[in-house]
Amino acid sequence: MKAVGLLKYLPIEDEKSLFDVELPKPRATGRDLLVKVKAVSINPVDVKVRSPKSKTEEQPKILGWDASGVVVETGEDCHDFQVGDEVYYSGSLIRPGTYSEFHLVDERIVGKKPHTLTFAESAALPLTSITAWEALFDRLAIEASDKENNKQKTILIIGGAGGVGSIAIQLAKWAGLTVIATASRQSTSDWVKELGADFVMNHHHSFQEQLKQHGMENVDFILCLNNTDQHWLAMADAIKPQGMICSIVENAQPLDLNVLKNKSATFVWEFMFTRSMYETEDMEKQQQLLNQLSELIDIGVIKTTLKKTLSPIHAENIRKAHALVESGKTIGKIVLEDFA
Ligand SMILES: NC(=O)c1ccc[n+]([C@@H]2O[C@H](COP(=O)([O-])OP(=O)(O)OC[C@H]3O[C@@H](n4cnc5c(N)ncnc54)[C@H](OP(=O)(O)O)[C@@H]3O)[C@@H](O)[C@H]2O)c1
Repeated sequence: MKAVGLLKYLPIEDEKSLFDVELPKPRATGRDLLVKVKAVSINPVDVKVRSPKSKTEEQPKILGWDASGVVVETGEDCHDFQVGDEVYYSGSLIRPGTYSEFHLVDERIVGKKPHTLTFAESAALPLTSITAWEALFDRLAIEASDKENNKQKTILIIGGAGGVGSIAIQLAKWAGLTVIATASRQSTSDWVKELGADFVMNHHHSFQEQLKQHGMENVDFILCLNNTDQHWLAMADAIKPQGMICSIVENAQPLDLNVLKNKSATFVWEFMFTRSMYETEDMEKQQQLLNQLSELIDIGVIKTTLKKTLSPIHAENIRKAHALVESGKTIGKIVLEDFA
């Protein structure tokens, strides 16, 4: 089967950083599905794993943690899917990724693809949607069904126009919250408004001053989707007493937790690979949330975050997409479709 892999961790301008390779087609066992991949999306995690370092691989390492496709084989213990089902999923960070024509994935973290979306539109969603869903509804414990109560609550989403922000804004609006999203350019500001943000602030300026301009003192929740170090103190200032902050981005410098003490504010991490990496007892929740997301999409409540499509799926196009994601200026998601 066709795949795109790496042996050395090189700058993306280097043609050998990601190359086309032929690999044996795997077989599904246990709870694995074998999926014929139709489309993949590129995430910052792909770029972080590929980032230049001296390590080398003996066998081609396959990256990629978002796919949509069709089930072509099921393991002997599978009971949730059948051959022919159209699916979308992110996968596991500790298994080979989705830049391959056929891919093995545990059925407990796979969802039924939305009927109303194409494979490319669907592949844009899994990783970022799992992240946003878990951050809002598991880590920040927002009760999605309690819309009346949520109407009184505000959330600040830092980095609103990126892959995660684009779906987080829509999910927070669906739950009934007032959403303040940050964006620093006209194009990203327009995009977050189109997705439903009630207010837009610039993440390069003071949050507190901008909140005041919108008639607010502070916010009930903060979801930090970019540069936790840069925003840490501003988040401590902007959070309401007893409020909750969730970040999905690792800090580079130590963070002073004391700045949250007087407010008894909560800080919590979200890492969307936790459930698959540790095979937690509730890992099936990712299947459930992807299925629920498909329903929300099919009734027109949530829309795809796909903004750019490249075709076919081969090393040259994947390198192009990595370079775009590496720029940090992506709006929504970049997807590649169809192996040549
Ligand atoms: N923990 C997890 O499970 C998890 C899951 C997914 C992603 N992540 C991480 O979360 C981060 C965001 O992922 P993503 O897919 O949303 O990224 P992305 O699509 O690459 O984000 C691009 C957006 O980031 C905004 N941005 C750039 N610099 C910023 C800053 N200093 N402050 C706030 N926003 C800024 C840009 O908006 P403007 O152009 O308007 O400035 C741009 O629209 C990445 O570091 C990724 O690795 C973690």
